[in-house]
Amino acid sequence: MTTPPINQAEIDKAVDVLLHGGLVAIPTETVYGLAADADCEEAVRATYAAKGRPADHPLIVHVAGPEAIDAWAKDVPPEAWLLVKTYWPGPLTIVLKKKDRCGGWVTGGQDTVALRCPSHPWTQALLKSFAGETHKGLTAPSANTFGRISPSTAKHVADDLGVKPEGKLDMILDGGACEFGLESTMVNLSQGQPTLLRHGIVTREMLEETLGFAVPDAGKNAPRASGRLKSHYAPKTKLELVSTDRFADRVKELEGTPLALMASAELLKSLTVKSVLTITAPADARRYGAELYENLHKLDDADAGRILIEQPSTAPDWAAINDRLGRAAA
Ligand code: TXA
Ligand code: MG
Repeated sequence: MTTPPINQAEIDKAVDVLLHGGLVAIPTETVYGLAADADCEEAVRATYAAKGRPADHPLIVHVAGPEAIDAWAKDVPPEAWLLVKTYWPGPLTIVLKKKDRCGGWVTGGQDTVALRCPSHPWTQALLKSFAGETHKGLTAPSANTFGRISPSTAKHVADDLGVKPEGKLDMILDGGACEFGLESTMVNLSQGQPTLLRHGIVTREMLEETLGFAVPDAGKNAPRASGRLKSHYAPKTKLELVSTDRFADRVKELEGTPLALMASAELLKSLTVKSVLTITAPADARRYGAELYENLHKLDDADAGRILIEQPSTAPDWAAINDRLGRAAA
């Protein structure tokens, strides 16, 4: 998955649309985001409307670099600087106490702000040009209808939200397929001990190695986060996660139902069933993650009555994948 060379004219156009309060889908290394000027209440409210997302769900502010942190957050603990030094630009979002500059329309009324500095070269260039002296930022939830599968290509965004007048966006900045395909890791640094709000490419083990202490999952009183809802990232077709041992039996039980399957090459070879679509699951976690949403989109579009996915490995580098699969199946 290679990123196309930067198209400066398209980026300049996107900056202009954003500075005028428009909505632009932007490529990031994780998934496509639905960007708006974080300082512009009207534009940010329009992203909630476009996604159909409840207004009390906070948004991530995307910034050009660590120099923007103090413009948006206060009481920044040393752990935050250490994490940022190690993982920015990249797929890590940090949650901090917010400054007054950050409007309630961004945070759903909470007193914290989530900050992320994406590494995708197009969006890096866009943010650098957009930020200005006041370190302006872009709110950007994943560019999908609320609760649906996140977009890892510009086409996913075009098919789901679309461009005006038929669709909801002012522009889609097509920077190619996303490198990682899974949303950023989220760490809460606003309440003393750092906790993990969302699993991602930066794994718990990596965070613990950098910080030198354990980073537990966020507990019940963690800030609200829609990615933490039990059912999320969901295809429209009912999806079941099935263990390797049970898979062949489950396929038999569902005889008569058109099936869309994703399983390892080995398991697929042993099946005799006819399906409407069969996808061979990548054996490597990086590729499995990068292709996960694209594969979920394909399985969902296959007009099957049921999607069956073989439960993959539960090793640490599969944590984000298992998290998303669990929510897609809920
Ligand atoms: O990789 C990503 O993070 C992508 C790309 C576009 O950057 N963005 C993304 O945004 O996944 P979204 O809105 O789909 O998911 C962000 C999650 C939501 O569950 C939101 O509720 C949570 O982060 N969140 C945002 N601000 C927060 C805050 N201050 N405290 C706790 N959770 C927050
Ligand atoms: Mg999302």
